[in-house]
Amino acid sequence: MSNSSFNIQTIFPKTSQIPKKFKLIAKYEQKEYLIGGEIRIWNGAVQQVYSPVCISDGKGGAKQKALGSYPLLTEKEAIEAINAAQHAYNNGFGQWPTMSVEQRIKHVEDFVFRMAQKRDEVVNLLMWEIGKNLSDSEKEFDRTIDYIKDTIEALKELDRNSSRLVIEKGILAQIRRAPLGVVLCMGPYNYPLNETFTTLIPALIMGNTTVFKPAKMGVLLHKPLLEAFRDAFPPGVVNTVYGDGKAVVGPLMSSGKVDSLAFIGSSRVANILKHQHPRLHRMRSVLGLDAKNAAIILPDTDMDLAVNESLLGALSYNGQRCTALKILFVHKSIAHIFLEKLSTKIENLKIGMPWDDGVQITPLPEDGKASYLTDLIKDAESFGAKVMNPSGGKFNATVFFPALLYPVSPQMRVYNEEQFGPLVPVVPFDDIQEPLDYITNSNYGQQASLFGNNPEQIASLIDPLVNQLSRININSQCQRGPDIFPFTGRKDSAENTLSVSDALKVFSIRALVAAKLTESNKILINNILQDNKSNFLSTDFIL
Ligand code: G3H
Repeated sequence: MSNSSFNIQTIFPKTSQIPKKFKLIAKYEQKEYLIGGEIRIWNGAVQQVYSPVCISDGKGGAKQKALGSYPLLTEKEAIEAINAAQHAYNNGFGQWPTMSVEQRIKHVEDFVFRMAQKRDEVVNLLMWEIGKNLSDSEKEFDRTIDYIKDTIEALKELDRNSSRLVIEKGILAQIRRAPLGVVLCMGPYNYPLNETFTTLIPALIMGNTTVFKPAKMGVLLHKPLLEAFRDAFPPGVVNTVYGDGKAVVGPLMSSGKVDSLAFIGSSRVANILKHQHPRLHRMRSVLGLDAKNAAIILPDTDMDLAVNESLLGALSYNGQRCTALKILFVHKSIAHIFLEKLSTKIENLKIGMPWDDGVQITPLPEDGKASYLTDLIKDAESFGAKVMNPSGGKFNATVFFPALLYPVSPQMRVYNEEQFGPLVPVVPFDDIQEPLDYITNSNYGQQASLFGNNPEQIASLIDPLVNQLSRININSQCQRGPDIFPFTGRKDSAENTLSVSDALKVFSIRALVAAKLTESNKILINNILQDNKSNFLSTDFIL
């Protein structure tokens, strides 16, 4: 509903008001998990799953809808999963790591075909499990399919470029990329499909074997894909574990069998995980972590554009994006008009259930999130900030109306904490050094947005900021995409770089075959090449 008819107390639907297309026919009582090519059935303890969407009883009460459950596996199954991955890798002798690139691509193509059949079911589960609106849930699914297809094309290109031999100083060589071993992939709850697959798929296609564990929320949506994983890949190449992180991920890490950790989550958890590995130097990490991206809004900005981009940047998917604008620095001379316009826009955001037409603000999946956000507001108020929009901070159970907070200052928690939700803190500034000092002193180092039109000033900000952050957006919100662009960060924000082509590199190592150019070596190598005896030493060109 748009804010003119907005009553947060009656926001949740009765069962009869849920559109038929999005109703869940039955609960998802997931018992299945995939290990060694076999879908096993779990009969032990389970984790109940509740939707952030509440169902109204029609008498003023509303309860989070029970969606089903998933297995709470134990150390035993976790170790079985990693053993299965290690067995499939078989120290590099396995069928998957020694397979030709062309054949591996065929397996991934088979997977993506099977995955595409499950679109409606996965999209519906995205809405129910994490409260993402329909259009963003569809985008997440479609973007993931595109990412996989682009990955295939990027690998073909990489392979073509390395399909020739090089001769240097009397040595002949073929230089390609080889897999790392066993990769543990763990995605976040806000992009549970996309961000898991942007590490899982490149890891797989490069010849690694994998164990994959979904985040705490956004688990059931992977269930429809289990059979596709089983049928599209050789046994043990993809294994899944579910359950409490301490119970299953701790043993995986301390087993020492993880060659590469792909984790999107908090830097706190990443630190714990890395230090559980007994031989840390052996493990490569690909991490997407915390961020508190700032916008700097300069006096000569195009005001409407800055307001619109700030709104999108701060509040798309309720602000639950690692790339969200989480703090806005606005020049004092324009703060008044900026706040007025942004407040009006926020008040007009459509709040409702994920499937509602054009809805922008939806229920929040994290336990206790509304009370956390309320605490941040109270803390800011105690230091003199005010909620600028009339509906800001109103909440009912899992629904929280976005709050525009002003003036925000350094002693407030929201100045430094990553709120990861619908709070928009605005800091007034006189001197450009104030936001620059903020970025310099911050523990985060992902991106920033600059709004202004003076070429000298923008250029003078770009040059130092690219040395502090990894992407500077000009008159545009912060974002990860397009996915062929590098996505990374400094400080506590990331380790390593992801993009369609970078991901292929981070899950592989350059390896080469080299030989002194003697007559006998020429004959030997020619013989191997002519009869296609090796998948690595090969001049085959993928078309
Ligand atoms: O949560 C972090 C995501 O990578 C952000 O992606 O900027 O495309 O929403 P996005």
